[in-house]
Amino acid sequence: MKPKFLLSRCISSNSRSKSPMAQTQTRTRTLTIAPDPPPPQDLDDTLCSNPDLYQQEEEEQSCPSFPCTPSFPLSGEERVERAWAHWAKLGRPKLIVAPMVDNSELPFRMLCRKYGAEGAYTPMLHSRIFTENEKYRNEEFTTCKEDRPLFVQFCTNDPNTLLEAAQRVEPYCDYVDINLGCPQRIAKRGYYGAFLMENLPLVKSLVQKLALNLHVPVSCKIRIFPNLEDTINYARMLEDAGCALIAVHGRTRDEKDGKKFRADWNAIKAVKNAVRIPVLANGNVRHMDDVQNCLDETGVDGVLSAESLLENPALFAGFRTAEWVADCEESNKNGILDQADLLVEYLKLCERYPVPWRMIRSHVHKMLKDFFRIHPHVREDLNAQSKLTLEFLYNMVDRLRALDVSVPLYLKDAHVAGGSVTGLVA
Ligand SMILES: Cc1cc2nc3c(=O)[nH]c(=O)nc-3n(C[C@H](O)[C@H](O)[C@H](O)COP(=O)(O)O)c2cc1C
Repeated sequence: MKPKFLLSRCISSNSRSKSPMAQTQTRTRTLTIAPDPPPPQDLDDTLCSNPDLYQQEEEEQSCPSFPCTPSFPLSGEERVERAWAHWAKLGRPKLIVAPMVDNSELPFRMLCRKYGAEGAYTPMLHSRIFTENEKYRNEEFTTCKEDRPLFVQFCTNDPNTLLEAAQRVEPYCDYVDINLGCPQRIAKRGYYGAFLMENLPLVKSLVQKLALNLHVPVSCKIRIFPNLEDTINYARMLEDAGCALIAVHGRTRDEKDGKKFRADWNAIKAVKNAVRIPVLANGNVRHMDDVQNCLDETGVDGVLSAESLLENPALFAGFRTAEWVADCEESNKNGILDQADLLVEYLKLCERYPVPWRMIRSHVHKMLKDFFRIHPHVREDLNAQSKLTLEFLYNMVDRLRALDVSVPLYLKDAHVAGGSVTGLVA
C-alpha cells in the first residue's frame, strides 16, 4: 500500500523544492488536513472531526491546466491569448463562489458546487502567516480533487512573501488571486486589500512577481474607484502587469455595506470593454435573474456571488429565498428544498472535510437565520454551547423540524425543477 501524505505536508515539503514537472510526478495528496492537536484555548478554532477518519487514497496530481511555464517574457498579445486558452480549458465557468473569510471554505465550496457553482475562491489567506505558520496553512487551506476550478486568494503588500505563499498552493489551484478589495479596518492596519489602491506601483509589482514566476495564472479581485477613468486605468495596468483575469466588485472602497450600496454594473461593463482578459462581475447577484441580467448588461464572462450564497448555497441551481419571489408569485412553486436540508448537507461535508468550528457556527447562523427568527430559543440554545458537536447540530435541525418549521427555497421556473435540480436533491 502506498504511503499517505497530508496535503499540508505535500505543500510544505514538495512543492517548493522541485521543478513543476518533478512535482507532478511525485506529489501526493489526500483530501484532509493535518491532524495537529487543536489549540486548547479557543474551542471554536478546533476542527469539527477527526481528519484521520476520512483520509482517502493518495492521488497523482495532474499538471495545472495553465501551461507549465511562467508567462514572461511574452508579448501582451500572447499573454491575452494564454489567458483565454486557460479560461477555455477550465470550461469558461460563469457561476462562481466569491472569496469569503471563514465562509468559502472547502465544505461550503463543495456544497455550492453541488448546486450549480462552476468555480470557487478560497477565503482570503494572509500570505505572510501562510508562509510562516503550518497550523494556519493546515486549517485555513484545504482542498480536494473535485474542488476545481479553484482560485486561491491571498492578501499581501510584499511581492516576495506573496510569491512564497503562492508557490505552496499553485499545484492545487487554477488561479492565484490577489485581494485588492478588502475595505475593512484590519486591511487598513495591515496595508493590504483595497488600501493598495493608493499605491498602484506596489500593486503592479505584486502582479508582475507572480506572473513572472508562477506556473498558474494570476488573477486580481478589485473594487472600483469613484472615478470611472481611474477604474479603467487600474484594470489596464493590471492586465499589462500580467494579470490573467480580473474580478470587479462594483463598489468603491467606502461603499462597505453591500445592502446599502448597489453595485455599479456600468463600471464593471466599462472594465470589461477596456481590457482583453476575462472579467468577472461581483455585487448584487442574489438569484438567477440577477445572474442573467448582469451577464447581459455588462458582457462579463462570469459572476461572483457572496452574501446571498451564504443564506442560499443552492442559488446557482435556480433556488431562491422567499425574499425574491414576491413579484413573481404565480410562477413560483413551493420548493423541494429548504435551508435546513442544505445545512444538513453542509454538516455531512464537514464530517468529510473537517474545518474549524467557527466556520461551521457561522454557516449555521446564516443558513438557519429565518428558522431562528421564528424560534429564537433554538438560537439561544446554540449560542449557549461553548463547544459544538455535529450531533448537537443534527439534533437541533431535528428539533426545528419537530416544531413544524419550514422555510422553503423556491424555484421560479418549472423547467428548472424538471432539469438537473431534481436530480440534485434525489
Ligand atoms: C462573510 C464575508 C467574507 C468576505 N471575505 C472576503 C475575502 O476573503 N476576500 C474578498 O476578496 N472578499 C471578501 N468578501 C467580499 C465578497 O467576496 C464580495 O466581494 C462582496 O460580499 C460583494 O458580493 P455580494 O454582493 O454578492 O455579497 C467577503 C464577504 C463576506 C460577506
